[in-house]
Amino acid sequence: MILILQLLLALSLRADGYNHYRVKDCVSSSSDLSDLEFIDTIYFNKDPYIRFNSTVGEFVGFTELGVKNAERWNKGPEVVQERAEVDRYCRHNLPLYYSHILDKAVKPKIRLRLEKHASSSHPAMLMCSAYGYYPPAIYVYWLRDGKKVTGDVVSTEEMRDGNWYYQIHSHLEYTPTSGEKISCVVEHDSSKEPIIIDWEGSFTDSDMNKIIVGASGFVLGIILSTAGFIYYKKTSPGQTLIQQT
Ligand SMILES: *[C@@H]1O[C@H](CO)[C@@H](O)[C@H](O)[C@H]1NC(C)=O
Repeated sequence: MILILQLLLALSLRADGYNHYRVKDCVSSSSDLSDLEFIDTIYFNKDPYIRFNSTVGEFVGFTELGVKNAERWNKGPEVVQERAEVDRYCRHNLPLYYSHILDKAVKPKIRLRLEKHASSSHPAMLMCSAYGYYPPAIYVYWLRDGKKVTGDVVSTEEMRDGNWYYQIHSHLEYTPTSGEKISCVVEHDSSKEPIIIDWEGSFTDSDMNKIIVGASGFVLGIILSTAGFIYYKKTSPGQTLIQQT
């Protein structure tokens, strides 16, 4: 997991104009922040022209203007101030983000189902859905016999539920072959291990239960209506004619 805290200072932002902005990143690969790095980059349009990297410890310029500024700032108070930022800004803020965002992660509920049966003209389609999770960043992918699937996958964006929770759906098109194992894998901050859901064949247990309940209801309905009809036939009096005189 890479943690990135980014502060964007945009000085002017216009679709048809120039864009001068400064991005401050705090990057660490672990929660103990042992390899924490502070990167401060100034851009003109999309080109970075000067950067401070806390591991390097001074400014480095990439254009003529950047090199001149780097020379000047590395001799002045700018570089001293910048060296303190890794503690003042990054080490102070990242734990706050940890406790307010990552520690509040909510695990997704995952559903794997058949969207479309295979036919002679279409492959089958499976859908793997993750519901009710937080934070939004999530990684959903598929395994076929343990190997990651690279093609035939279409995923939606993370979609807002409007209540701080998110959902996402990933579709896999495949032609079923017997004995093959298909799994949906979800990686999310709420779980240290990837969550793996195996596809149980063309019917899942819940599909099977629905079919059993549906078929039982149908048979019961036929029995009851037949019994009712027979009862009606037996008890209803025959028609009598009333003769008028
Ligand atoms: C910062 O400097 C270190 C050491 O040179 C380097 O390994 C790292 O990739 C640099 N980071 C960035 C974002 O340039």
